[in-house]
Amino acid sequence: MAVQISPSILSADFARLADEAAAVPNADWLHVDVMDNHFVPNLTLGLPVVEALLKATSTPLDCHLMIEDPDRWAPQYAEAGAGNVTIHAEAAKAPVRTLRQIRAAGARAGLALNPATPVEPYEDLIGEVDMLLLMTVEPGFGGQKFLDVVLPKIRRTRAIIERHGGEVWLQVDGGVAEDTIARCAEAGADVFVAGSAVYGAADRVAAVEALRAAATL
Ligand code: DX5
Ligand code: ZN
Repeated sequence: MAVQISPSILSADFARLADEAAAVPNADWLHVDVMDNHFVPNLTLGLPVVEALLKATSTPLDCHLMIEDPDRWAPQYAEAGAGNVTIHAEAAKAPVRTLRQIRAAGARAGLALNPATPVEPYEDLIGEVDMLLLMTVEPGFGGQKFLDVVLPKIRRTRAIIERHGGEVWLQVDGGVAEDTIARCAEAGADVFVAGSAVYGAADRVAAVEALRAAATL
């Protein structure tokens, strides 16, 4: 499994997003947290900002939609050119249709699960996704403490993925830092979102490489 690092711009300076994207040239993805103040108690940005960011960086965008009614909005992020679009299982009313629309528009399709959402009911959807995202904090804010309680689910999800051929990526998001990332990697994660651990560091390039090194088993 190749380790991939996806710095979250939620912890970046929103007034200087192009510069903040350029500050992590060694990142595999740029994680963009779209929040609507309904699915989560926080409001961030939407499609116009994603469209502007797509013009400002060549790093592929990993859009994490923490919004109600992703069935309505997600395909537009894929059509705009996002490399990955992740919807939440708790919010989607027609996840199979929406995941297929994301793929049809040329993006990778992701399905996210909150800490208390079990993975087993979604096993039959594994052929519809390119990535599963397991939240390791309750979604909504950066800088929260990593929830160790999710580690057994990371292991079970890795086992499910392996049973189905191992093609699906397994992303973790929330509280991922130098002191927690190895636990996630050891449990089977291969794509790591890190907001405060990257954008809170003085040297962002070094922070990305330190995370990559710590996740490489
Ligand atoms: C939280 C977001 C995360 C957030 C992670 O709901 O989905 O992507 O940016 O921030 P850290 O890495 O600081 O926990
Ligand atoms: Zn996120």
